Amino acid sequence: MTTTTNSSPGRVDPATLNWKNLGFSYVKTNGHVRYTWRDGKWDNGVFNKDFDITLDIAATVLHYGQSCFEGLKAFRMKDGKIRVFRPEVNARRMQKSCRAICMAEPPIDLFLEAVRRAVAANVDYVPPYGSNGALYIRPFVFGSGANVGLSPATEYTFMVLVTPVGEYYAGGMGSPTKALIKHKFDRAATYGTGTVKCGGNYAPSLAPTIEAKKKGYTVMLFLDAKENKYVEEFATSNFAALTAPDANGKRVYVTPKSGSVLASVTNRSLCELASRRFGWEVERRLLSWDEVKSGNKFTEVAACGTAVVITPVAEIHREIGTPKQKQHSSTVPTASADDPFGFDHIDDDAENDDISLEVA
Ligand code: COI
Repeated sequence: MTTTTNSSPGRVDPATLNWKNLGFSYVKTNGHVRYTWRDGKWDNGVFNKDFDITLDIAATVLHYGQSCFEGLKAFRMKDGKIRVFRPEVNARRMQKSCRAICMAEPPIDLFLEAVRRAVAANVDYVPPYGSNGALYIRPFVFGSGANVGLSPATEYTFMVLVTPVGEYYAGGMGSPTKALIKHKFDRAATYGTGTVKCGGNYAPSLAPTIEAKKKGYTVMLFLDAKENKYVEEFATSNFAALTAPDANGKRVYVTPKSGSVLASVTNRSLCELASRRFGWEVERRLLSWDEVKSGNKFTEVAACGTAVVITPVAEIHREIGTPKQKQHSSTVPTASADDPFGFDHIDDDAENDDISLEVA
């Protein structure tokens, strides 16, 4: 790996950071690592101090969304050492994401090397032990090769940026949050890309989340797209629930099993802890909204993920609307005299359909 000597514009001096109050914002550090895949192989990578990238305007990431990412954290431990939490699991998940959207996948060793390099070059940004902060590590891959037709890029870029973070939601673990299940919004189709950590699974939830926030909710919770009956996951993280302790102090950890939720490394680790450390039952299964809503079964619900850690959820509201009917014709746009091609569903008030562009 070579190191570029350019300056690091926008770099925040770590001495100026308030470690106990970082929030989850992007702070420019000393730099990031960048690898390129061309002609069937990854190069040796560079450490780059410049935070801008130059990209062909026809790069597939810009048009067809060929991109995926990961999130993991490095912690400063009591002994002063810095440790990254389960990076191999993220490396494997990223490979799966890359395969799902036909991108070149970074080998596990390359992923680990990239993470190590990015953290090593930014040790001054790892929050001190006891501050509740961590260095958030964001590896990502995208199609940087140019294509106008819909086909996989012939060049890919793999980068790892890092940034010091604290709590994702204000108040963090100590501040229970409110979630909303929106009417008529599905995160991921039954046989779609819900298990893939690609950008396309996140951008569509932005608009309804902004709407939900205006109504006082922090996060959205999604049900399954087919029946709108089973709990899937939050917009940012997995769903987990706990029963009250029984006479022996044992609880049951329940988390949804679905072909369209993201395999959270945090959730997986919590399942392992619950079972192996505490001897609790762990159930990964279909979990209906009715079962959660009844209030009889679970005494605690949490959103869990790398960024949100374990955020307690105090309230979940479901918007009122007509439950989804199993009438296939109702979801397929049909032709009518007014709309002969059945395109009405695309834009209800497309007043500007006839605008043409005058060129010189
Ligand atoms: C993470 O938890 O690391 C994620 O990538 C989720 C993202 C919405 C911040």
